[in-house]
Amino acid sequence: MRVEEMNLGLSIEVESEDETDRLGRALASVLTANTVVGLVGPLGAGKTRLVQAIAVALGVPEQAISSPTFVLIHEYEGSLPVYHFDTYRLRSPTEFEALGADEYWNAGGICLVEWADRVADQLPRDAWMIRITPLERTSRRFELELNTAEECIANLRELRCALRQKPDTG
Ligand SMILES: Nc1ncnc2c1ncn2[C@@H]1O[C@H](COP(=O)(O)OP(=O)(O)O)[C@@H](O)[C@H]1O
Ligand SMILES: [Mg+2]
Repeated sequence: MRVEEMNLGLSIEVESEDETDRLGRALASVLTANTVVGLVGPLGAGKTRLVQAIAVALGVPEQAISSPTFVLIHEYEGSLPVYHFDTYRLRSPTEFEALGADEYWNAGGICLVEWADRVADQLPRDAWMIRITPLERTSRRFELELNTAEECIANLRELRCALRQKPDTG
């Protein structure tokens, strides 16, 4: 795993799904209630796989997590509620709003939104963004960007610490 600082964020390169799980654990350890995380990247990039990694780290049974496909919102019970959105099949961003997505932002859980670029204007302004670039078969680049500088410093320090933890802790 290679971690580099970016402006208001971190770039994390993983070599395997195990490392994606490690990233998921690190994120789960720093995410707090009412944080919205947008996931951006092409089909097969690993958006759902990262949601799975985060949710499992929060105690959600792995079988509970699916690719939402025809369902816009899945709710999972972990140590915090996890609200998993897949906006791929939405016809328009206004449909996202009409479906009441914004009622989830402050509902006490963590919101993970796939295809966040399609509904960027509908997300809260302080949403985190993770852009995923597939590199090779099992390697991926995750670029995490936080939107506010104050929040950024503490969160990124914490996340960097969490990423340093041994891969065999979960
Ligand atoms: N390091 C990795 N991180 C995430 N997914 C990976 C990784 N290596 C291989 N994969 C595979 O890539 C695919 C990602 O699929 P998925 O998460 O459904 O993509 P998306 O939701 O972005 O369309 C899965 O088949 C997964 O097993
Ligand atoms: Mg997906």
